[in-house]
Parts: sequence; structure tokens; C-alpha cells
Amino acid sequence: MQEKAIIVREACHKDLFRVVEINRICLPENYPYYFFQHLLERYPGCFLVAEVDGEIVGYIMNRIEKGMSSFNPSPFRLVKKGHVVSIAVMPEHRRKGIGRMLLEWGIRSMREEYGAEEVILEVRVSNEPALSLYKKMGFIVVKTIKGYYHDGEDAYLMSKKLVG
Ligand code: ACO
Ligand code: ZN
Repeated sequence: MQEKAIIVREACHKDLFRVVEINRICLPENYPYYFFQHLLERYPGCFLVAEVDGEIVGYIMNRIEKGMSSFNPSPFRLVKKGHVVSIAVMPEHRRKGIGRMLLEWGIRSMREEYGAEEVILEVRVSNEPALSLYKKMGFIVVKTIKGYYHDGEDAYLMSKKLVG
């Protein structure tokens, strides 16, 4: 059987209802529609969707922040950090490399279009698939954030250096 082509592209407004739907199906961390809309308007180059056969099956949503480096923290030197706010791929389309494509493209855009020097994210300590994807992509655990999630689960703060 012919493999179906996977397309990754920047999201647009008409994609947002589907993105919100995928977020609700795949993750317990959900946000109101205007939150997605705000991030799309503010950081369009790193809000991406993946399509298979013309249907959106995954997304990554990022933002850019200024703060202390995870690698060389100093209150006197703030760096631009890309923050992976949310990434998800529909269950029936997992393990096809889509998550990795979204993350690779998203990171490249945060670095090249927005000047991010590192990328950070939080992930549930029990989320093995995501943790293993992030480790494979070169993220390291910087610290554990106790009780980060609404159900009390801890998060790992993970980070990946992009420059220097
Ligand atoms: N078990 C072990 N390793 C895995 C798994 C798994 N279930 N899934 C992915 N990986 C690792 C593997 O190393 C894999 O490479 P391989 O398939 O060659 O072995 C590598 O990650 C790349 O996998 P992809 O196929 O690119 O990942 P996928 O498209 O399946 O998406 C994702 C991964 C996004 C984590 C998906 O499982 C998902 O949507 N999960 C539910 C939502 C979620 O947890 N999102 C992350 C929350 S944290 C945050 O958003 C910042
Ligand atoms: Zn976050």
C-alpha cells in the first residue's frame, strides 16, 4: 500500500477549530479558543499543523519568552527562549515521525525567525512517549516542578540549547 504523504505547514485561522479539537482529544491541558488565536497571531511562524490526506492530524504551538538561561542562569543576562506550549498528534497517526517533524520545524522557526537561543517545555513525569521524543531531540531535564499539573502530577522542565 502507498504511504500517505505528510505535510507540515504554518497554521492559519481556519485551522484553529481542528487544532482545539485535537488538543481536547489528546491532552488534559486544554485552553480557551482565544489562547490559541492569540499565539497564532503573535507567533505565526512557529504555530504549525501536520496534514495527512488533507486532514489536520497534529499541531505544535509555541511562544517566545525572555528569561534566564537554563544552562547558564544569570539575572544579568536574559536570553530569548522558545517555549513549546503544546504539541499533539492524533492517536491513529502516532509513531509515523509526525511529532518529530513538528518539533524539528518548530524549533528551526523559533531559532531562525524569532532568534531563540534555547527551547524549553514542561512535560508530565509519566509521559513516556513525549519524554522519549524530547530526549531523542536533544532536550535535557533541567528540574522537576512539583505539583505543576491541576491533578497534582509533577512536571519535568526540559531544555535544549540552540546556540553557543
Ligand atoms: N513510546 C516510546 N517512544 C516513543 C513513543 C512511544 N509511545 N512515541 C514516540 N516515541 C519516541 C520514539 O523515539 C520515536 O522514534 P521511533 O518511532 O523511531 O522509535 C520518536 O519519539 C519520534 O516519534 P514520532 O512518531 O515523531 O512521535 P508521534 O508523532 O507519535 O508524536 C507525541 C509524539 C506528540 C508525544 C504523541 O505521542 C502525542 O500526541 N501524545 C499525546 C499528547 C502529548 O502527550 N503531548 C506532549 C505533551 S508535553 C507538551 O505539549 C510540551
Ligand atoms: Zn509550558
